[in-house]
Amino acid sequence: SFFGLRKGPALSNFLPGELDAIARQIQTPFYAYSAQMIRDRIASLHGAFRGLDVRICYAVKANSNIAILQLMAQHGVGADIVSLGEMQRSLKAGIPAERIVFSGVGKTADEIDAALSAGVWRFNVESADELHLLQHRAQSRGVCARAAVRINPDVDARTHAKISTGKAENKFGVSIDEARRWFAECAALDHVQLDGLHAHIGSQILDLEPFRQALQRVEAFRRELVQSGHAIASVDIGGGLGVTYRPGGDMPVDIADYASLVRATFAGFKGTLALEPGRWLVAEAGVLVTRAIRVKHGTDRQFLVVDAAMNDLLRPSLYDAWHEIVPMHGRNEPDVAYDVVGPVCETGDTFAQGRVLARCEAGDLLMIAGAGAYGASMGSTYNSRPLPPEVLLDDGRYAIIRRRQTITEMMAGEQFPQAWHET
Ligand code: LLP
Repeated sequence: SFFGLRKGPALSNFLPGELDAIARQIQTPFYAYSAQMIRDRIASLHGAFRGLDVRICYAVKANSNIAILQLMAQHGVGADIVSLGEMQRSLKAGIPAERIVFSGVGKTADEIDAALSAGVWRFNVESADELHLLQHRAQSRGVCARAAVRINPDVDARTHAKISTGKAENKFGVSIDEARRWFAECAALDHVQLDGLHAHIGSQILDLEPFRQALQRVEAFRRELVQSGHAIASVDIGGGLGVTYRPGGDMPVDIADYASLVRATFAGFKGTLALEPGRWLVAEAGVLVTRAIRVKHGTDRQFLVVDAAMNDLLRPSLYDAWHEIVPMHGRNEPDVAYDVVGPVCETGDTFAQGRVLARCEAGDLLMIAGAGAYGASMGSTYNSRPLPPEVLLDDGRYAIIRRRQTITEMMAGEQFPQAWHET
């Protein structure tokens, strides 16, 4: 087994010594992703939905590196985007515009224009104001925009409050009552083809029940619409599938059960189903590799100070998220309870508190697992720490898919005031 250590599923992706060798070559911290695990996840998803007219639109925000997007493109996976940056990355990586859906409550006129001229598959529209803006922009370009209503089904996804999106009090989507009015009035919008439904209720969902409730509401509404004479060509059921961060702890939804639920719920639907998984495709394929800088003996705690920090992986600070931490020294050491912390000047810069690990010393490598989703993509340069590199591992080899940012690059774009402009 790997370094002779107890390991969770995330850690079996890498061969012994692989990460040590890379750490010697490119220094720490860095992100490492297993291409094979991502391919396996794509294949499982395709397998589970075989026979259905399904489009998988990967939620780019989970991990937006162009090499990860290229992997998606190579396997027929499209993109769910929320900004022009995500659109350009997706197109650059070879994802065709007709496999891109555009979500988000804050689409601007410029963003709508750019997405229309790229020819994205559809807009997931989240407000009446956006619907009218879409009509207006499409009209002035002389095109017809394909659109879906994002329904807020008002269900509790039973996940962390900060990543829950399907309750009426959340900013996302519109109520079924409002959506009904849109369809009643949409004949007046001659440059919008409103023929889709969309729902996304939250992220890291570990329970089938909230999905069942949301999908049933969407399907009941679809039937109602069809009865009143509206054609519905696509239903986008969003993302949200949870993953295992705690081996033996989190029990994710079984993908076959999820697919059966979707098949049963939409048995009467003849159009295209879209899926927007982010985390499920990439989270467990990635680790953040870091080196211990020192052990600091506090008054009543042992601090393991590592060279990665909250700017590299924000989830523990922002959501109190639990990530498995594995020392890679391979020595047989007694257990010690550590507060694993980074060098950033914030108490919240803590990866774990009281985490029991085999004793570590300065220079030891550790990996933080489950870091493939919402890790690098949420990174910042806070405390003026350059963005870390990312590497893709495949078949015993690795490729750098983002090199370490230099301090000069980090400051690029900043300048001393050279010219003062009248306000
Ligand atoms: N579709 C829409 C419209 C979304 O807003 C999201 C995620 C997804 C799909 C993908 O959800 P997934 O399959 O990854 O659960 N930063 C947080 C997660 C935020 C999710 C935002 N929306 C975290 O680190 O847990």
